[in-house]
Amino acid sequence: MLRSSFAIAPMMGWSDLFFRCWMRCLFNNVDVYTEMVAVNAICYGDAGRLLQEDDHRHVVLQVGGSDPKLCKQAAHIAFDQGFRHIDLNVGCPSSRVQKGMIGAVLMKYPSVVADCVEAMMSVHRDLTVSVKSRIGVDHQDDESFLVRFLDEVLATGCKHVTIHARKAWLSGMSPKDNRNIPLLNYQRVYDMKRRYPDVFMLINGGFNDFLEVKEALNHVDGVMIGRLAIERQRDLVAIARQLGFMQGTVRDSLTRYQQYLAGHAYKNQSSLKPLMALLHGFNGAKSLRSQMAELMRQQGGVSQWIDRLKDELPS
Ligand SMILES: Cc1cc2nc3c(=O)[nH]c(=O)nc-3n(C[C@H](O)[C@H](O)[C@H](O)COP(=O)(O)O)c2cc1C
Repeated sequence: MLRSSFAIAPMMGWSDLFFRCWMRCLFNNVDVYTEMVAVNAICYGDAGRLLQEDDHRHVVLQVGGSDPKLCKQAAHIAFDQGFRHIDLNVGCPSSRVQKGMIGAVLMKYPSVVADCVEAMMSVHRDLTVSVKSRIGVDHQDDESFLVRFLDEVLATGCKHVTIHARKAWLSGMSPKDNRNIPLLNYQRVYDMKRRYPDVFMLINGGFNDFLEVKEALNHVDGVMIGRLAIERQRDLVAIARQLGFMQGTVRDSLTRYQQYLAGHAYKNQSSLKPLMALLHGFNGAKSLRSQMAELMRQQGGVSQWIDRLKDELPS
């Protein structure tokens, strides 16, 4: 089974096909998560469209659900379409998601999570099933709560867990605030890795530079990063470069992305969205942004815009 010590987090509204492709053009052997897809949508919706992927290596499909039968059916469909790693979302605190018994609320029901994980694991022995959780929810945030949760989930034989190192408040706080306000507790995650040494454990939450990541890698198997990839991509690139995950220069990666887009029928502004975070904090960004809309109206505008980005990007 391929698994990486560096992962790009699932991010709703961002981690689409273009974003995942761009991450693959930038990095070698980094696990890239999809946006969360509800198992109901996979089973009863347009699975072909929802699960569209050009290259399944190192792509992790994140699903949301709490019905073991639907989880299993969704895992079957995803496996048949080429996915070899499925992650169950046990970290999203949004109230809409909670109403569907999806996300962080499931930390309170470890046996439900275990049943879903077990059901998905039964689909095929080549399918990796992982869980992404928080360290706790509401006032249930002590170590024993997390241990009870993990004991039950890991008893299924699941060997791959990502822990966002802060708890989630299930009411009265927006998902955005829930990613910032609850305090980070890396030590809690490090203690879990010591307790479950056979489990491949990634830590997530608040990593901004190489030294922070390097320190975490002394304690756990991997680090997952989210917002740097959509806000300050050059900082993400700096981390990946020092960890040895970079594929040449950013310009090389942009050329690879242009080649990918050339073979893709659907090219418009959304194919450039994943590149916008490269523009953070550099002088030519404003003019590049304003040129984008104009170029989008022309045939070949996407590639032309990337050419200009390659010319102007500081080395
Ligand atoms: C815009 C956005 C959308 C997100 N969507 C998801 C999601 O679909 N599933 C999930 O497990 N986490 C989701 N998250 C949480 C991230 O995966 C990650 O846990 C969080 O951002 C903390 O990591 P960071 O500090 O490196 O950003 C989302 C985060 C952001 C910023």
